[in-house]
Amino acid sequence: MGTTTIHSRQVTGASVDADLLSEAMRRAAAYLADIRSRRVAPAASSLEALKELGGPLPDRPTAPAEVLDLLDRVGSPATVANAGGRFYGFVNGGALPAAVAVSWLVSAWDQNAALRVMSPAAAACEDIAIEWVREILGLPVDGAGAIVTGATMANFSGLAAARHALLERAGWDLEQEGLFGAPPLTVIVGDEVHVSVEKALRLLGFGRQRVRRVPVDGQGRLRPEALPALDDRTIVCIQAGNVNTGAFDPAEEICRRAHDAGAWVHVDGAFGLWAASSPLYRHLTAGFGDADSWATDGHKWPNVGYDCGFVFVRDLHALRSAMALSSAYFAPGERREGSQFSPEMSRRARGVELWATLRSLGRQGLAALIERTCLHAQRFAAGLRASGYQVLNDVVINQVLVSFGAPALTRAVIEQVQQDGTCWCGGTEWQGQVAMRISVSSWATTDDDVEASLAAIRRVAAACIDSNTGAA
Ligand SMILES: Cc1ncc(COP(=O)(O)O)c(C=O)c1O
Repeated sequence: MGTTTIHSRQVTGASVDADLLSEAMRRAAAYLADIRSRRVAPAASSLEALKELGGPLPDRPTAPAEVLDLLDRVGSPATVANAGGRFYGFVNGGALPAAVAVSWLVSAWDQNAALRVMSPAAAACEDIAIEWVREILGLPVDGAGAIVTGATMANFSGLAAARHALLERAGWDLEQEGLFGAPPLTVIVGDEVHVSVEKALRLLGFGRQRVRRVPVDGQGRLRPEALPALDDRTIVCIQAGNVNTGAFDPAEEICRRAHDAGAWVHVDGAFGLWAASSPLYRHLTAGFGDADSWATDGHKWPNVGYDCGFVFVRDLHALRSAMALSSAYFAPGERREGSQFSPEMSRRARGVELWATLRSLGRQGLAALIERTCLHAQRFAAGLRASGYQVLNDVVINQVLVSFGAPALTRAVIEQVQQDGTCWCGGTEWQGQVAMRISVSSWATTDDDVEASLAAIRRVAAACIDSNTGAA
């Protein structure tokens, strides 16, 4: 049987040349040109067309320009307009212009940020970005930081360091002995803990029996008076920015009590920690700097683009011990190596986008982004209250929870708003009440976006109420 030799030039159809990149640029620019005016959720027909991407894997190579064309023609219309100003689902940040542009260059660089020797430029950007973030968030000068894929992995990494440190203090060598037979550790979380912390704990071998939930107040803040007795085998998880309300746990008191008992405090500050960058909102983060480990996201509030998370640990040794790896062929150098502080070995050079985004914003730009999105959230809350709807949370930062009345009615409004396409809001249940979640996390949201979105939500809600009344 004869074999067919396909040379690399045939496989790619062309080198990565300027024409191909220009074409990608042209298409990306065209995509972004109408992002602010198009439907936020894709139309049903666009979703239907996605099957064109499938079928059996072709035997023969396809020219990159053709692949690009297919993806743009079929894929682009089926995206959600996250890059526009009217996507308020989850806590999705946008990608600032510097982040988008630099991510293209980073892709062309094709660097592996595992070891400094593989990419001095990526390592330099990562070092600098970690230092900038550390300073903005008010974290300790001599700790260890790493850039990871998101807050889930940042929570995982911070908690892995906590697990290492507490077991080491108990005389147990976790890396040598493993978890079987280790002295038991207890984890304390608030009842409104984010699911990503629960997932991280699961991945680290803390079953549900090891995790104690503590009651919270009406905003989802952990109630310190409800904390059980703490000791030096306890990890207390607190949050800066509840995913629904945006509320901050009383960090100062919890850290003091935990540290008096020798416990470790881990902060899930996926978005809320960035309030520290604004003189107007910094007070909300008071006391969080007293903790032992912190997780946050670049891709949420700072608008670094997907994906980018950040972990920081006061005890450098704890994070490195939990994450380090080496082998004869993979020898870390003398200076800081990204792969020695994060779960991944091969790593995309995410630090470059983080560096570029912070460099382009500067301190003032970052503070302005935080303050602007909070102001938009206030406008949403005031506008919906004025229309007679109930805002369920204290709008302290960028999160708004709204009830339109009975659970079925609120659900209908959320669904119809998503169908309408002017904006996109998700749903949640907040302490027994069904609510629409509005999270204003993108640099791209303007006053006009807020006005257009408010008008759409009001219009849809009125129609839902009318049809409800008609049906009754
Ligand atoms: C408070 C909080 N923690 C953790 C996460 C998980 O973040 P990621 O999706 O970046 O892993 C989120 C996501 O919304 C969050 O809001």
